[in-house]
Amino acid sequence: MSSPVVTALPDESVADAAARMHDRSVGSVVVVGGHRPIGILTERDIVRMAGAGPSSAALKVAELMTPDPDCVAPVVSVHEAFATLAERTYRHLPVVEGDELVGIVSLRDLMRLAQIQPVVHPGQIEAPPGLEGVIVAETQVGDVRGLEGFYHYRQYSAVELAAARSLEDIWFLLFEGHLPSAEESRAFAAEVRALRTVPDAVRRLLPEIAAAGGPLMDQLRSAVSLIGHSQGFRPWLDIPAEELRTNALQVCAAVPTLIMALHRHAQGLDPVDPDPDLGYGENYLWMLTGERPDADKARAVEQYQILTIDHGFNASTFTARVITSTGADLAGAVTGGIAALSGPLHGGAPSRALDLLDAIGTPDNARPYLVDAVTRGDKIMGFGHRVYKTTDPRSEFLRGVAERIRARKAGFATQVEQTVVDVLAELKPGRNLYANVEFYAGVVMEDVGLPPDLFSPTFASSRVIGWCANVLEQAADNRIIRPSARYVGPPPPQPVPEAEA
Ligand SMILES: CC(C)(COP(=O)(O)OP(=O)(O)OC[C@H]1O[C@@H](n2cnc3c(N)ncnc32)[C@H](O)[C@@H]1OP(=O)(O)O)[C@@H](O)C(=O)NCCC(=O)NCCS
Repeated sequence: MSSPVVTALPDESVADAAARMHDRSVGSVVVVGGHRPIGILTERDIVRMAGAGPSSAALKVAELMTPDPDCVAPVVSVHEAFATLAERTYRHLPVVEGDELVGIVSLRDLMRLAQIQPVVHPGQIEAPPGLEGVIVAETQVGDVRGLEGFYHYRQYSAVELAAARSLEDIWFLLFEGHLPSAEESRAFAAEVRALRTVPDAVRRLLPEIAAAGGPLMDQLRSAVSLIGHSQGFRPWLDIPAEELRTNALQVCAAVPTLIMALHRHAQGLDPVDPDPDLGYGENYLWMLTGERPDADKARAVEQYQILTIDHGFNASTFTARVITSTGADLAGAVTGGIAALSGPLHGGAPSRALDLLDAIGTPDNARPYLVDAVTRGDKIMGFGHRVYKTTDPRSEFLRGVAERIRARKAGFATQVEQTVVDVLAELKPGRNLYANVEFYAGVVMEDVGLPPDLFSPTFASSRVIGWCANVLEQAADNRIIRPSARYVGPPPPQPVPEAEA
């Protein structure tokens, strides 16, 4: 305990007592009548009073103090005193012997004594850096099994879906929970294709956004925000579930159109209106060039888009769920998802992976180039994954797509892939580093005619469906996501220095 105790009298002003607390660097004063504690005034009370405004400055201690405070005897153990503080959420306990105040124990003293950090809830747990392996929610949308090299949308293998179904069917699966019947499939396609058109209020602003420049992912954030605003999206807490679903369909359907319109504006070209008669991938390439795309290339890009719809609790999906957990509107959650996806450690890597192939140039140069890069500490873009500790099934599938469409760099990429895996196994043994989705993504996208500035946006074009499926799930069973951090700065509270004149 601390002794002697800093005390106050009931009829002195709170301002005087507060000044004494400040001078003596204590968090409370015990209010005494004779030697007996009759109340306690804490820094929390002072803060409350300060919040009430200047009219409270003349208050007397007796008016603000907590009367008849709980006290402990000097014989109680530190453990018991700590338990009392924690249980009753006090920070200070006067110590009395008989009727006489002899000391005070404070949470701060106990922390110092035990050299522990503040633990507000006894049940708090420490998560590993990057939240690796921490389960933070339950989901029926899908999952990734990193050791098996397997991932799934609902109960189906994602790569089997990519081989067999259209993107719109899988979109239906993620939103509705089952694959559509033929009739449901037609109705859903008609519903979402009608929503591809960007509302006029936003369409008018796209040339300005494109003219402002910057990466297309940044422009897309602005455009999605405007969709939400122009369509009157409201915090989901204030709207029925059906309206949130409609918001989600509208954003998912409009994102590919926004991407292509922004891209064309930046090239000085007029946007190409979406065509409701075309499938998802065909329409995507149609809006790029205004020409009917080759069916194989359209299927290739659609398969890439299917493979990237969802992938467990990746950083952008988690971001979208955190934003949703606050009750915010859907456009806000998608905007946050786009920002998270834009980072090179997440969805910003495919153009860098293609740059790597260009920088290596020839098969002979692969090994020396890579040894040099890894020795320097560089990350090889398109390799490694937080969850996969074996080959990434998306990369395997996309290698097949690249070979099927006879992508120009498919053969070279396969050679480089093997060399990267070998070099990483030698120089980073035990890390299990393999090609991830981004390595062949650039090879495929380049070959279907997408320029590098569209690589990350194309990832976003379908990932938005995964974000929205997660938004709907989060909203259906919500608790605000609000973890804690361990404070490691200078020990508080330090006296606040007066402002310099
Ligand atoms: C995907 C990624 C961010 C996962 O990060 P993570 O789970 O935090 O893994 P770490 O960065 O801690 O990597 C673990 C070890 O493997 C090494 N490593 C991981 N990916 C590597 C890569 N692509 N090239 C070289 N070394 C790599 C790290 O240097 C680290 O080595 P160390 O133990 O000597 O420090 C990471 O692998 C990466 O940066 N890859 C390149 C970017 C990329 O392709 N992003 C797209 C992801 S789909």
